[in-house]
Amino acid sequence: MTGGPVLAVDQGTSGTKALVLCPERGVIGTGTAPVRPRYLPGGRVEVDPRELYDSVVSAGRAALAEAATPVEAVGLANQGETVLAWDPATGGPLTDALVWQDRRAAGLCDELAAHADELEYVTGLPVDPYFAAPKMAWIRRHATTAGVVTTSDAWLVHRLTGAFVTDAATAGRTGLLDLDTVAWSDRACGLWGLDGERLPRVVGCDTPVGTTTAFGPPLPLTGLLVDQQAALLAQSATDPAAAKCTYGTGAFLLAQTGPEPRRGTSGLVGCVAWRLGDEVTHCLDGQVYTVASAVRWLTDLGVLAGAEEIDPVGGGVPDSGGVTFVPALAGLAAPWWRGDARGSLTGLGLDTTPGHLVRALCEGIAAQVVLLASAVAGDRGAPLTSLRADGGLTRSALLMQTQADLLQLPVEVASSPDATALGVGAVARLGRRPGLAVHEAVPEWRPAAVYEPRIGPDEAAERLGRFRTAVTAVLAERPARA
Ligand code: G3P
Repeated sequence: MTGGPVLAVDQGTSGTKALVLCPERGVIGTGTAPVRPRYLPGGRVEVDPRELYDSVVSAGRAALAEAATPVEAVGLANQGETVLAWDPATGGPLTDALVWQDRRAAGLCDELAAHADELEYVTGLPVDPYFAAPKMAWIRRHATTAGVVTTSDAWLVHRLTGAFVTDAATAGRTGLLDLDTVAWSDRACGLWGLDGERLPRVVGCDTPVGTTTAFGPPLPLTGLLVDQQAALLAQSATDPAAAKCTYGTGAFLLAQTGPEPRRGTSGLVGCVAWRLGDEVTHCLDGQVYTVASAVRWLTDLGVLAGAEEIDPVGGGVPDSGGVTFVPALAGLAAPWWRGDARGSLTGLGLDTTPGHLVRALCEGIAAQVVLLASAVAGDRGAPLTSLRADGGLTRSALLMQTQADLLQLPVEVASSPDATALGVGAVARLGRRPGLAVHEAVPEWRPAAVYEPRIGPDEAAERLGRFRTAVTAVLAERPARA
C-alpha cells in the first residue's frame, strides 16, 4: 500500500466502526459507537437517523484521537438498503430510518407482482422489501410526501459535506438503478411511484464529493461504498475469483463477476460491486438476513449471555442433538425470496440444551451460506475452491468450523474482522490519489486462520438434506406471495 493514513468509517446496522489505516503501520486508531435499531411488531425495524450520524462522528473522532496523526482522506461505508425521508434545506430527518431488515413494504411488493420479472431484469434485484425502493415507496404512501427520500448514505454524506450524492454500488441496492447503464431507471422509478422524486446524483465510489469538518480538521470525503461490496473489494482485489462471506448482523456472500452486468439465474442478486473512475465491476450477491441478529435473539431469550458464549456453550455438546433451526427471523432472501417466511426450530426434546440450540443455529446459518455458494458456482460456471470470511462472528471457531464442514471447502478467515473498513479505506485512498492502482490501495490478503472440513461429504449431505427439509416445511407454512 502507498499513500498517507486515511479514516475509514463503517456505518453498520448495530454500530459504527472507524479505523485509521496507515500504509506502513496498519490500523493505528480505532473508534466504535453502538447503534440500537428497534425491533417492532409486524416485521418493522427502525432506527433514529440522528443515532447513525452521531455514531459516525463519535467513532471517527475516537479513531483520529487514538491515531494522533493527520489523515489525508475519509471513506464512508453504509448499510445499503436503509432509507429515510429528510429535508434537503435543513438536513433534518423527516422520518425514522427504515432498516434493511424491515418487512413493512411487503404489501407494496405484492402490488407489483405483475411487473416483478421486468423489474428484476432492469435492476438485477428481485421485488422484495429488503431493498430500498419498496421502503421509499412506503414512506411516500404512508409517512410523508415532503423532502427527499433516500438511502442513509445520501443523508449522511449531505450532513457531512452538503453534497447530494450516492455511489453507484449503493444506488444498485435500491431497485431503481438500471443494471446495464448504471443510471437511474425511469421505468423502475415509475413502477414504484417514485418518478417525481429528486434522487441523489450517482457518483463513482472514488469520486471526491466534498469536505467535512465533522471530525475536526477539514477532510476530503473521497470514498463511498456500500458495506458488503467494500468487504468484497478488501478480500478479492488481488484475486477476483475469490468469494467472500461477511458474518455480521446478517451474512452476505458476494463474488465478483467482472465488467459486464450479470443477472443471477437461481435467485442471486446481480448488482454493481463498485465503480472506480469510469470502470464498473459487477458481482453476484446472496443474503442470510439474521446471523448476529439471531444470536441476539437467543441472547434475549436467555439461552446465551452473548456472542462470546457461542463456542463455550455450543462446544459443550458434540452435535445439535437432532435439533434443526431455520433462522428465518426476518424472512428468507436468496434463493427463496420469501420475506413472509418465519423461523422454525424442530427436533426439540426434554433433553435439548442451550448447546444444542447454539449448534443448530450455527448449522442453520452455515447451510444457507452453502446454498448461496452453490448458486454462485452455478452462475459463474466454476466451483468455488475456498470461501473467504470476515465480520464479527468469524471470532466463533464453532461457526467457522461448521461452515467448512457443510461447505466441504476450506474457510479462510480474514486477519481483520473489519474488511468493510479496509475496503472503503482503500477506495478513499484511490479517490485521494487517482494515479494509484487498486492493488496498491488494498492491503494484501492474508488469512489469520484456515478451517478445513472435518466431516466427510456424506455426513455434510445428510445435514444439508435435513436443513432443506426444514426449509421446505417453513415455505409451505405460508402461501407464497402472488
Ligand atoms: O444489506 C445489509 C447489510 O449490508 C448490513 O450489513 O454489517 O450492517 O450487518 P451489517
